[in-house]
Amino acid sequence: MFCSKKFFVLLAVAIASAVSADTACAARKKSADAPLYKDASAPVEARVEDLLSRMTLEEKVMQTSLDVLGRNANENNLGEVTERLPAEIGTLIFCEWNPALRDAMMHRAMEESRLGIPVLCGFDVIHGFRTIYPISIAQACSWNTPLVREATAMAAREARSAGVDWTFSPMIDVCRDPRWGRVAEGYGEDPYVNSEFCRASVKGYQGDSLAPGSVAACLKHYVGYGASVGGRDYVTSDVSDQTLWDTYLPPYKAGIDAGAATVMSSFNDINGVPGTANRRTLTDILKERWQFPGFVVADWDAVGQLVTQGFAEDLPDAAAKAINAGLDVDMSSHAFDRNLAELVKNGTVPLSRLDDAVRRILRVKFKLGLFDSPYTSDPSPKFLAEESLDIARRLAVESMVLLKNDTVGTAPLLPLNPKVIRKIAVIGPVADRGDVLLGWWHAHGIASEVTTLLQGIRGEFPDAQVEFVEGGKTDGTDRTGFDAAVNTAKQADVAIVCLGEEENWSGENHSRATISLPAIQEQLASAVKEAGKPVILVITAGRPLDMSRLAPTADAIIYAWQPGVRGGEALASLLSGRENPSGRLAITFPRCAAQIPIHYAERPKSRTTMGQYQDIPEAPLYPFGYGLSYTTFAYGEPTASATEFSRNQDITITIPVTNTGKNDGAETVFWYVNDPVSSITRPHKELRHFEKREIKAGATETFTFTINPLRDLASVDSNGDPLLEPGAFSILVGGKKIDLRLLP
Ligand code: GLC
Repeated sequence: MFCSKKFFVLLAVAIASAVSADTACAARKKSADAPLYKDASAPVEARVEDLLSRMTLEEKVMQTSLDVLGRNANENNLGEVTERLPAEIGTLIFCEWNPALRDAMMHRAMEESRLGIPVLCGFDVIHGFRTIYPISIAQACSWNTPLVREATAMAAREARSAGVDWTFSPMIDVCRDPRWGRVAEGYGEDPYVNSEFCRASVKGYQGDSLAPGSVAACLKHYVGYGASVGGRDYVTSDVSDQTLWDTYLPPYKAGIDAGAATVMSSFNDINGVPGTANRRTLTDILKERWQFPGFVVADWDAVGQLVTQGFAEDLPDAAAKAINAGLDVDMSSHAFDRNLAELVKNGTVPLSRLDDAVRRILRVKFKLGLFDSPYTSDPSPKFLAEESLDIARRLAVESMVLLKNDTVGTAPLLPLNPKVIRKIAVIGPVADRGDVLLGWWHAHGIASEVTTLLQGIRGEFPDAQVEFVEGGKTDGTDRTGFDAAVNTAKQADVAIVCLGEEENWSGENHSRATISLPAIQEQLASAVKEAGKPVILVITAGRPLDMSRLAPTADAIIYAWQPGVRGGEALASLLSGRENPSGRLAITFPRCAAQIPIHYAERPKSRTTMGQYQDIPEAPLYPFGYGLSYTTFAYGEPTASATEFSRNQDITITIPVTNTGKNDGAETVFWYVNDPVSSITRPHKELRHFEKREIKAGATETFTFTINPLRDLASVDSNGDPLLEPGAFSILVGGKKIDLRLLP
């Protein structure tokens, strides 16, 4: 039979369409068979509800439980090692950086559990994963939120490549007490500063929408942990409603608004009700008033600790009180996985509350893409990329603070001129150590990968003769190294004395009654000063230290904090002037521990010239915002687009700032609000805007603050409602003041 070409074409089309119909039909049948929650194209909420509807009570309970995979290096949290984790476990602390280990656990979750729900792997990526950046309090002193966003994005990339999908960061506990070891982990004393760095960190970790390569952020420790009584850890935070709303809650609201996926509740009790089971903070404020869609995880074993805190009879009672208050995930105490099923069955815990917790957990997992691509894409994660190391160096440079720079001879001692300085004595117990530059929460950072201060100095001054003498240890009474230190200083053109804290003198469970360095270090500094040569003091620490006895021993002081993996290079580049110091303090330095609490935003006294301690000056040793530069800046007069305005009217204030020195430099312009009369008294000044910018020598830049009255001038009352009353306001900037009037 003759068949035309056309026939064959028609036949082919017929076959193709039949096949594709079959395929489509098969696909439809498959998709019709496949549950909706496995359909990546379906809306997240629909997938959540579909999956929830399929889960048993026991499966739901397991989603609310967190255990540990790998070796937990946090000596405060060494719990029982679970030999074989259940495939249905909801979340983990993943303590290794081996994606194969994490994927093996993920395969168990996806293939051994009945519904194939991925496990969420978290870790404390506080200031870096393997590339370690400066500690958070130091980052705040950089005033460079865009750079912090870059650093957290790089940390997220390293963490995700190693199998971590969730970080227990940023820590945004406002802290005004350097005795508290955890002051190292937050962004200092100011609510607005913590809010701005929280926003930057959340966006860095999560991107704009938990995009691939990002990690879920976790705002902690909710709330008021930084107000721990006496700066001690795990104790009461006695906080008035007014202070809760105007000081400790704002950074969390900023983080929620930035889209933070999770929150961690705090160990402390808030006026007697533990953060772990505080219905008012967890449900009334966070979930109902702020409509937070994510989940709240307890801190380590904190549900179990409700018994110790005298809030619960036993573990079942603790589990019930915590979840009924609004907690969603129990970290490591096993209160939930061992008791919730029974508590739901006997009606102590409503099933609706359990469902709400599981819904929140599943929502984060879907948004992270874990159902659709549960395994790490990179079997051999790459760390310490040049890009991340450069960000670490830049952030370290910008976070170090020049506290003193006296004239020696005819010029300020710093920067040192590599062409003139021939012999440098580097002295001190932290000069040639990497561990002390990492800080306590250093994740998978490795001390041997750190550029030490000595290595940085040797690299920056290659033509100088650099002699290193340890001189003594960080603690103890051994002075036998002092003579060598003094003699080396005598033979040098300049002595660089490097003193500081051990990495475990700050951080969790590391509160200190005295905030000065051990006497042996102060004695070493005094001995070297007697050598009669110019002295530069470099401090590495996780907290503001009492510098009152150390400051007089040096002509120049650089506070390096714990600057991370490229701290040595960063410091040396400041010493040589290749970089110009731009760090400014994000926390007040008291003269002594007895002056605590002290911070810039104190309310007016009823007698301005009275009431202070009689035996020390009223002012702190170094105030909030303080820091020197190798250049000078002059502020012109501020001008306002209007000085009288209504509450719905934005106004703009500008101010010219000139670099009047010989060196290019970065200046941070701080904009404060003063409301001299208010039905709830307000601090002398409150920071409401800051901007950092590089200004060339001799150049002038115009800085602008666009004021939205409700956002920038308002305070808050003890119910958390905005308080904006007509009347006089002032804007304080660069030592200048511009008076405004808010019309009724
Ligand atoms: C710790 C800390 C918390 C950390 C958690 C997991 O006890 O309080 O900040 O994220 O346990 O390591």
